Amino acid sequence: MYDILVNKKNKLNKNYKPNDLVKVSKKFSTKECYLRKKVNKAFTRLCKNALKSNLDLKAISCFRSYEYQKNLYINYIKEMGFTKASFCSAKPGCSEHQTGLAIDINYDNDSFDSTKESKWLINNAYKYGFILRYPKGKEYITGYKYEPWHYRYVGKRIARIMYKKKITLEEYLNKV
Ligand code: DAL
Ligand code: ZN
Repeated sequence: MYDILVNKKNKLNKNYKPNDLVKVSKKFSTKECYLRKKVNKAFTRLCKNALKSNLDLKAISCFRSYEYQKNLYINYIKEMGFTKASFCSAKPGCSEHQTGLAIDINYDNDSFDSTKESKWLINNAYKYGFILRYPKGKEYITGYKYEPWHYRYVGKRIARIMYKKKITLEEYLNKV
């Protein structure tokens, strides 16, 4: 099931952990990263094809456990306060990273938006089954600010539909 919806309203169990996590190749990650098997395969293919156009793509964050997300979220709140933190970080149980289907690529800051890697991903990631999960202008639907670095695997068929229709996963699943 690659169309699972995890957001502020749809939570995962504290103990949820996919049972088919595999390690992302060192060539395509900056640190030890784990993704679901099929996602890793798709990401590796995407990275290899991007390399042919001299685009350097690396995973910086993939699977995150409930506990890991909890620490991240607490640190965001300490750093920027609850309101801002809630707009950029998911509460534990509410992060797609716990599904093993999400990847943060290259930099998790806004400067990624203007890179050639980001521009390529926006228009090509869907061919490999990935979608830009938190697009600009859809904050009122996703609940999060634009995250040019966060890609989510949904499978090729759904990714193509979402790309062509320019819709979010909430819209695709009619769960806005
Ligand atoms: N930054 C995304 C929303 C997360 O924390 O999962
Ligand atoms: Zn992310």
